[in-house]
Amino acid sequence: MKTAGIAGGGLILSSGLLRAQKNTGGKTINLALVGIGAQGERLLDSLLKIPNLNFVAVCDIWKPRCTYGFRRVFREMKQKPEQYEDYKDVIKNHAKELDAVIIATPDLWHSPMTCDFLEAGVNVYCEKMMSDTIEGAKKMVLAARKSGKLLQIGHQRNSNPRYLYARNRLLRDVQICGKITACNGQWNRAVAKDLTWPKNQEIPSETLQKYGYKDMTQFRNWRWFKGFGGGAISDLGAHQIDIFAWFLGARPKSVMASGSRAYFKKDWAENVMCIFDYENSFQDMPVQVFYQVLTTTSGTGGYWETFMGDNGTLQISESPKLTKLYKEHNAVPSFEESDWTPLVESGVLSGNPENQDPKNTGPSPDLKQFYFPSGIPGSDKPIHMPHLENFFGAVRGENGLNCDAEHAFEAEAMVFKARESAETGQKLFFEPSDFVVEG
Ligand SMILES: NC(=O)c1ccc[n+]([C@@H]2O[C@H](COP(=O)([O-])OP(=O)(O)OC[C@H]3O[C@@H](n4cnc5c(N)ncnc54)[C@H](O)[C@@H]3O)[C@@H](O)[C@H]2O)c1
Repeated sequence: MKTAGIAGGGLILSSGLLRAQKNTGGKTINLALVGIGAQGERLLDSLLKIPNLNFVAVCDIWKPRCTYGFRRVFREMKQKPEQYEDYKDVIKNHAKELDAVIIATPDLWHSPMTCDFLEAGVNVYCEKMMSDTIEGAKKMVLAARKSGKLLQIGHQRNSNPRYLYARNRLLRDVQICGKITACNGQWNRAVAKDLTWPKNQEIPSETLQKYGYKDMTQFRNWRWFKGFGGGAISDLGAHQIDIFAWFLGARPKSVMASGSRAYFKKDWAENVMCIFDYENSFQDMPVQVFYQVLTTTSGTGGYWETFMGDNGTLQISESPKLTKLYKEHNAVPSFEESDWTPLVESGVLSGNPENQDPKNTGPSPDLKQFYFPSGIPGSDKPIHMPHLENFFGAVRGENGLNCDAEHAFEAEAMVFKARESAETGQKLFFEPSDFVVEG
């Protein structure tokens, strides 16, 4: 499902020319950061830990956020990026020297910004969703193809060492779950109030309008507005719906979803439940996938994806403490890995194979719990860091991208269709053409 990234070529820089020309063949990457809100700040936490980055510009239409970005880069890197309100000025003044830009603005701005930076010859790391519309996402795929530049989308689980271990080692090599017949996932969150702002930091209304926002409420709570974001299924579900298809190595044939906006009464559904039917998987097996996102209750808590088979279940999450394996009490005897003791002994898993409660012998006995081994390389890094490193490696020509525009489009096509199904209440079917962009 993945395609390798296009390696960036270019001249090796001498240090004196750092700001004068592109340096894709050298070590230091000239970088701009556009959008320094909650996610821009989180990305900055990782960026400031990654060596050989040179911050050329920071950009945000909200002055305090732009200043925040500048101050952190100055304090922690001793670099002085130029500050901008309008990303077009970043392109005008710096496109020639920039190797890469990181975009973490609200979804409505992703497509125009990405297309403009790519066209100006700058490699782009853009946050998910690619766009609030499928048309916007298609334009990004086409712009990446046309420019020959790199476009990585911020579905960071694609570079998460624990996710890669789960998919490649446990589900594929060891086939630890046996035959996977069902998957399940959730992201449940407690009620959150609308975001506010300090009254002395209001953006002038002419500036808000220049960038498409009606007022400060819409600017701060863009996720819930049509034309700006896509509500819960897109904001949170986008991360997880991708994982089922990626792990199963297949595409769903249909989706049936139900959405509710009874609680917040916003533009987009706050709670969505959906069922994806997969006709096939890497194991040549139909799989039913149930996914729910709730933003009115934490429920039993947390966010994870599970892969359920006749020998066991793997539950994976960005939170390591929610990552577990459960062995079936009667794992299929003919299956060579039905005994997990050797897997524990060889370090593929950790846990006590005898930790099942021997007294519970009813029709649904307790399942033995196991865990990932500690020390999977890179698993102690902040969650966005490996994905950013993968992007910078691709910019330097050292590796391909883990989530290029084509892969991200394939994943997000499922989210757009689930959102449509939740809106219309209809079961919708996928055509192969839904997953690719022609042209
Ligand atoms: N990968 C992840 O785990 C993850 C997590 C959270 C958010 N996100 C994504 O990151 C993006 C930003 O989300 P957020 O939570 O930080 O939102 P946010 O509202 O907190 O921050 C957005 C920032 O962009 C700025 N901005 C708005 N329009 C702009 C424009 N035209 N030009 C320049 N700056 C502009 C705002 O002033 C604000 O500082 C979204 O696309 C979201 O889906 C990804």
